[in-house]
Amino acid sequence: MINAVERKIEQYMTELDDTYVSSLYRKLPQGKRLRTKLILKIAGSDLKVIKTAATVEMIHAASLLHDDVIDNANTRRGKVSVNASEGDKIAIMMGDILYSKAFFELIGISPEVAKVVSNAVVQLSLGELADVKLSRKFHTNRDDYLTMLYQKTASLMEASAESAAILAGKPRQAYRQYGKNLGMAFQMIDDILDITADHQTLGKPALHDFVEGKVTLPYMYLYAVLSPDEQRNLVSLHRKRLTLEEMQWIKMKMAEHKIIEMAYTEAKVLITEAIALMESLGEQDLSQIAKEMIERTF
Ligand code: IPE
Ligand code: IPE
Ligand code: MG
Ligand code: MG
Ligand code: MG
Repeated sequence: MINAVERKIEQYMTELDDTYVSSLYRKLPQGKRLRTKLILKIAGSDLKVIKTAATVEMIHAASLLHDDVIDNANTRRGKVSVNASEGDKIAIMMGDILYSKAFFELIGISPEVAKVVSNAVVQLSLGELADVKLSRKFHTNRDDYLTMLYQKTASLMEASAESAAILAGKPRQAYRQYGKNLGMAFQMIDDILDITADHQTLGKPALHDFVEGKVTLPYMYLYAVLSPDEQRNLVSLHRKRLTLEEMQWIKMKMAEHKIIEMAYTEAKVLITEAIALMESLGEQDLSQIAKEMIERTF
């Protein structure tokens, strides 16, 4: 059924009747299609469901095109990013085209689904803006960080699950909560993988967040347990291109204080909650998706 979603996206792109845009889209690697898997697992494979998954993947792809401009990232999904190969202007406009075409198609699917998904994109954009603002200086504001994380990542997963529930006539509030927990945990794991995984496995830059100014949860935890001298050292490395030695120092301190384990535990709490919720509704497959989310390596 994922194939039906791919074909739907291709159809939407062909309808734009622009050979340059079509060829650019064909060059984009596909990604894990997690949001599609989530939607199809909840709602089956009705045409409206396929269309909803297609628009959500287009929105997600648009957000990544813009995100790589914002984050100065030159790799995405194992390939050179569009901003790196074609320039920022093309990446921005390609993102706008994907967003707008997705909104145009959403209206025709269901006004309720269109409302839920488009509101998530408002949140996503507010979240990316908050991410940029929070990155300007070193901070340890956990609440601001979690709000931003909800907006930039969890909102679209929440909307994916809720939309699927709407289309399937399932209780939307429970699925909404499930999608939110999944999304929060997903971004927490993404932030961990930035520290623990290598560039090759991730298919995007590694140990890049802190250089770009992102003080993610592991860095906040680390700061809290360092000595005053070490704290000063950590802050001095913020927004700096790191030497190998500096990278090793960060990783060594994280290992010494079991920081990654702490951050995993936090993501796991959210996943456990999501699993319990789905098991109470007899949705075994969905609890499986939640488990895979926490065990992923890229
Ligand atoms: C990446 O999302 C952006 C985040 C929200 C962390 P995915 O990891 O789902 O990206 P693809 O689609 O598989 O490349
Ligand atoms: C999530 O944040 C991006 C979006 C929600 C668009 P990141 O900036 O951490 O995502 P990656 O690591 O580049 O995929
Ligand atoms: Mg990024
Ligand atoms: Mg980003
Ligand atoms: Mg990331």
